[in-house]
Amino acid sequence: MSGLAGKKVLISGAGRGLGEAIAEHLASLGAVVAVCDLNEESAQVVAARIIEAGGNAVAYGGDLGSRQVFHDVMAAFARAYGPVDVLINNASYLVYEPIEKVTEETLDRMIASGLKAVFWGVQAFLEHRDPAAPVGHIINYSSPVAYRGRPNTGAYTAIKGAVAALTNVLAGELGPRGIRVNAIAPGSVPTPATAGFVSAEDYERRAKNIPLRRNGRPDDVSKAVAFLLSDEAEFINGAMLAIDGGIIAAG
Ligand SMILES: NC(=O)c1ccc[n+]([C@@H]2O[C@H](COP(=O)([O-])OP(=O)(O)OC[C@H]3O[C@@H](n4cnc5c(N)ncnc54)[C@H](O)[C@@H]3O)[C@@H](O)[C@H]2O)c1
Repeated sequence: MSGLAGKKVLISGAGRGLGEAIAEHLASLGAVVAVCDLNEESAQVVAARIIEAGGNAVAYGGDLGSRQVFHDVMAAFARAYGPVDVLINNASYLVYEPIEKVTEETLDRMIASGLKAVFWGVQAFLEHRDPAAPVGHIINYSSPVAYRGRPNTGAYTAIKGAVAALTNVLAGELGPRGIRVNAIAPGSVPTPATAGFVSAEDYERRAKNIPLRRNGRPDDVSKAVAFLLSDEAEFINGAMLAIDGGIIAAG
């Protein structure tokens, strides 16, 4: 995969789950990775592991649903390593529950982590990238649920649908500045987030229905992200790449 060596990549929510896997993979390809998470300790553990493996990483803690915090974190990364090349808006707070159970507190927290943080991240990225750089990248996250109307996923689905729509807008708005904005929709990947809502038996059942007959793995997602960031994908902008074994396509 060409084009990632030395690239400065900020990943939100990289203290665990898919963000953690992406941070490790991109660092192994030579990127300088900012591992950012609400849970500062987990971000530090991930960054330390990357450094121990010979990679380049730095950890930042903070609530990226806050505009000020996201701007401060991006500024600190750019001050330490130079203009930022890639923003990966991975952070999310997942709750599945029936519509009548959704509280204002839960909805506010989900929107802050999953949607507002995308706006703040993009603003901060635009401020701290090199405007003369020929290419920059933003990766956003949608989800198969946004395309399928699954019961009990109202808040999460609304956010992931909004992020997909925003990705289209940003691809048009920022493409002329050399920034490729793409979304991914990982499907059925067991992570700490899903552990509270999807049992091992549920995952087994799911695997039987997914066209490729297995659940996803974090490395399915990190390899696809590396591709989108590579020179091989240089004309891909505004895509919504399903990394789901065919869930969205087949229903
Ligand atoms: N796992 C799946 O099957 C799946 C499917 C579709 C989409 N996704 C998307 O992939 C992304 C990663 O999912 P995951 O399963 O690894 O989740 P996860 O909950 O395991 O990891 C998310 C990380 O984000 C951090 N975070 C949450 N709110 C934050 C905030 N305000 N500021 C900073 N950090 C914050 C959490 O502390 C956590 O470490 C999410 O956007 C999720 O919606 C996952």
